[in-house]
Amino acid sequence: MKAAVLVRFGNAQDAFEIRELPDLPCKPHEVRVAVATFGLNFADVVARLGQYQDCPPLPAVIGYEVVGQVLETGAEVTHVQPGQRVLAFTRFGGYATQIVTDARAVVPLPDFIPDAEATALATQYCTAYFSACMAINLWPGDHVLIQAAAGGVGIALTQIAKNAGCTVYGTAGSDAKLETIRKNGVDVPINYTTHNFARVIEKTAPNGKIDVVFDSVGGQSVREGIKLLNSGGRMVCFGAADMSGANKLQVAWKAMQFGLYHPVQFMLRSASLTGVNMLRIAENKPLVLQQCLQEVVKKAAEGQLKPIVHGVYPISQLWQAHEALQHRSTVGKLAIQW
Ligand SMILES: NC(=O)c1ccc[n+]([C@@H]2O[C@H](COP(=O)([O-])OP(=O)(O)OC[C@H]3O[C@@H](n4cnc5c(N)ncnc54)[C@H](OP(=O)(O)O)[C@@H]3O)[C@@H](O)[C@H]2O)c1
Repeated sequence: MKAAVLVRFGNAQDAFEIRELPDLPCKPHEVRVAVATFGLNFADVVARLGQYQDCPPLPAVIGYEVVGQVLETGAEVTHVQPGQRVLAFTRFGGYATQIVTDARAVVPLPDFIPDAEATALATQYCTAYFSACMAINLWPGDHVLIQAAAGGVGIALTQIAKNAGCTVYGTAGSDAKLETIRKNGVDVPINYTTHNFARVIEKTAPNGKIDVVFDSVGGQSVREGIKLLNSGGRMVCFGAADMSGANKLQVAWKAMQFGLYHPVQFMLRSASLTGVNMLRIAENKPLVLQQCLQEVVKKAAEGQLKPIVHGVYPISQLWQAHEALQHRSTVGKLAIQW
């Protein structure tokens, strides 16, 4: 098989080499897939910059999700057959022409969902679904703040929150992105480069407070978000984009900006602070991840969820896709075709 191997940390153009690698064995509980398309995630950029602690040592094949055709199933696998089109999670290894993964991380894919949209349903939509429907509950009438609402997870969270009957406040970094998030369902789009999101919410939300915050930016944005929480409020932290590309001193400074909290503060307000890391869920609760994957594919097939695709790149333009993601010029999913 071939793979785009991460061979050195740093700029995207020099980071990857296409290499021939031996096929991996397919164990009884696993599925081998011939990959047509794989998805990119912000974590891939962080891994390429050498700042992702879970990234395997170099040379490494990164990548969390693929769409392709089943080539082989292990003896214990019954829910997918060779030849079937599937969406699959990989714990790294996705930037390859073949992957082997746990059968619970593989789901059949309806033909009418295009490859690139399907890749968004894996990491980004499952993160959103787990965060909004399993880690916490969204209740009809909740006022919900979604940071980075134009990112892949932000788009998914917006759709889930609107389906649940919530009012959504979403932040993004440019007016062009604001237009997209408005069309995606955000009721109060906020350009955080020209407006302080906390002040906008204090002026527009009932009592100036919010019921739920989804934060992938980290640092000061978390501290501000917690201050905005209503009693009964829920704060879900699942990323720290603000720390990407920062040096050690800046990381330490930004880490302090999160703030310090005592459980009693949360108890008195009946509020909660929850962290989400889907890699840990995949390792420790594979059936929960399977349920997320099945649910988001079902809801996409029913038309309740609709990923936005920023672009589909050929493998020869992997580095350009990585640069676009790093420089925040994208809205929605980036996928790579072999
Ligand atoms: N915990 C988990 O299991 C898990 C799973 C998936 C993703 N994540 C995390 O969730 C975040 C969003 O993922 P995604 O797939 O939605 O990414 P994405 O599509 O690349 O969107 C990320 C967006 O975040 C915004 N952003 C705000 N501050 C940023 C900064 N300092 N540097 C870069 N971008 C910044 C940018 O939008 P603006 O230009 O509008 O600010 C950017 O486009 C990432 O941090 C990712 O690592 C975590």
